[in-house]
Amino acid sequence: MRLDKFLANSGIGTRKEVKKYLKGNLVTVNDEIVKKADMHINPEEDIVTFDDIPIAYEPVVYLMMNKPAGFVSATEDDEHETVVDIVPEYMHLDLFPVGRLDKDTEGLLLLTNDGKFSHQLMSPKHRVPKRYYAEVDGHISEDAIDKFKQGIDLGDFTSTPSELEIVENGEQSIAYVTIYEGKFHQVKRMFHSINCEVTYLKRTKIANLELDEELELGEYRHLTEIDFENLDL
Ligand code: URA
Repeated sequence: MRLDKFLANSGIGTRKEVKKYLKGNLVTVNDEIVKKADMHINPEEDIVTFDDIPIAYEPVVYLMMNKPAGFVSATEDDEHETVVDIVPEYMHLDLFPVGRLDKDTEGLLLLTNDGKFSHQLMSPKHRVPKRYYAEVDGHISEDAIDKFKQGIDLGDFTSTPSELEIVENGEQSIAYVTIYEGKFHQVKRMFHSINCEVTYLKRTKIANLELDEELELGEYRHLTEIDFENLDL
């Protein structure tokens, strides 16, 4: 990794500030003063100091996972495996899931150790759209689209206007729904309120970031620059 990137990722300053610090002889690598921003270092092995203080390497990580059913969206659980158990090689970086999907829900889940990133995506204030594919038992009534659009009173809260797109309607039905917050069992409860019971739920999209269909259930990959653009933070 480039030295300036390492220093900036460690919170020392912006790349521009880091360049200044390098010029000012404030940075050493393995006891040698270094001025070159593009020097390559091995963050796991080389000892970098800033102003005589060694810098611990704690990179931020952003993963997209195709969550399988059967895993809880938490970092620890007494009974069940968690989504963090799926990424053991990142255990030391304290990743956590960005928001929660139910144990039986599949699909797009982000994992990170960047609290600000997670807050930006999950805070109801930011109204980030989350799209779900749902299979339900029951016929979706004519007025359901309007009901979802108006907001549904679920007792403890009323959902903000959401979009319902019906794909198939019958005794069993299929629909996409886009919601703008993420309350406990929200999609299941919204369907329940129109007399439909969700039998399968998969998150397909957060903001403009779609689940990478190349990822099999339980697979994951790092977010790319384009993915970040699609998240539109
Ligand atoms: N809504 C639900 O009901 N479950 C989820 O996992 C996500 C949204």
